[in-house]
Amino acid sequence: MRKVRALSTEPATSAAIDGVYSTESVRAAWRRSAALEQQIAADPTPFRVLTGERPTGALHLGHLIATLANRVRLQAQGVEIFLIVADYQVITDRDVAGDLSGVVREVLLDYLAAGIDPEATTIFTHSAVPALNQLMLPFLSLVTVAELERNPTVKAETADAERRGRRGMSGLMFTYPVHQAADILFCRANLVPVGQDQLPHLEISRAIARRFNSRYSPDRPYFPEPDALIVSTPTILGNDGAKMSKSAGNGLEIRATEEETVRFVKRAKTDSERHITYEPDRRPEIANLLTIGAHFAGTTPEALAEEVGAAGAGRLKQVVTEALVEGLRPMRERRAEAAAQGPEYLQAILARGNQRARDIADRTLDDVRDLMGMTY
Ligand code: TRP
Repeated sequence: MRKVRALSTEPATSAAIDGVYSTESVRAAWRRSAALEQQIAADPTPFRVLTGERPTGALHLGHLIATLANRVRLQAQGVEIFLIVADYQVITDRDVAGDLSGVVREVLLDYLAAGIDPEATTIFTHSAVPALNQLMLPFLSLVTVAELERNPTVKAETADAERRGRRGMSGLMFTYPVHQAADILFCRANLVPVGQDQLPHLEISRAIARRFNSRYSPDRPYFPEPDALIVSTPTILGNDGAKMSKSAGNGLEIRATEEETVRFVKRAKTDSERHITYEPDRRPEIANLLTIGAHFAGTTPEALAEEVGAAGAGRLKQVVTEALVEGLRPMRERRAEAAAQGPEYLQAILARGNQRARDIADRTLDDVRDLMGMTY
């Protein structure tokens, strides 16, 4: 009989999983991230990134600035990227997936538009990679219900479900951090780009890797403990000053036309102070325009504020509109080119990515079953 180790013998880890992140550990995570960036710049080959999103709608400016641009940068640096279109995660919090294939198509086009190169980056979906999903079974045995209950997202969802009264949280939502661990570990990714606020999420994946290794492969760690690559992600606001989101209808999609782009900026909320300054806390709407404009103009929000200064919000909007229209134009063109090639083109990209992911997941699951003594 295999000696079963109690999960509760990892006090330090449990604290991290609780999301009890001290300022010191956040600082340490940033330092680690900076060191990783240096290593990537020197030699990207030891790194494999896993990242992605739920296909719930076409992607917008918030996605582009906060995550897509960073992926394209890593891709250009030569880091291998696995990009998951997390279709099983769509049904964590809704009953029907809706027009999933239509949404997946739009997301794929957005990836291509933003500059993701399907030759270099593996794009795949959960549902096409059975072995990835099967990893969830042994992984579920490596975490406790109490740990899952303490996950910040699961906690927020529980609170939400309680507020709504009738409808509880689904079992898939409750266990989604474990599913994400399978997303990351099936391809033995060692880097996951996250915002600082998502650091606790990765802890479950790290704990699963660590616990699997110590239980089943103590002499030779099988899974790498994935590191967070922290990206400073400004929250991009919609033109009403609230967080940009599809449901709020306040955003600008990557696929937007030029007219829609111009209108988005024109309608953006500003404030009554004439002189333009970058003060995200006190003047969030102005700061948002500066962030968007600076991103596309290749400068910093501070420098852009300096440049516009006394010329006021009218001038700021003019500058932002120009930068945004110019920045989105090549993306719109790439999108149109890809769309013009017909549905087979996108299907082929996904088929290739899915096949690659399946090959890797099959090998990993074989290894895992071997290590667990389940090869008969
Ligand atoms: N939860 C992420 C989102 O909604 C998508 C995702 C699924 C993911 N699996 C992942 C992100 C693994 C990072 C790592 O955007």
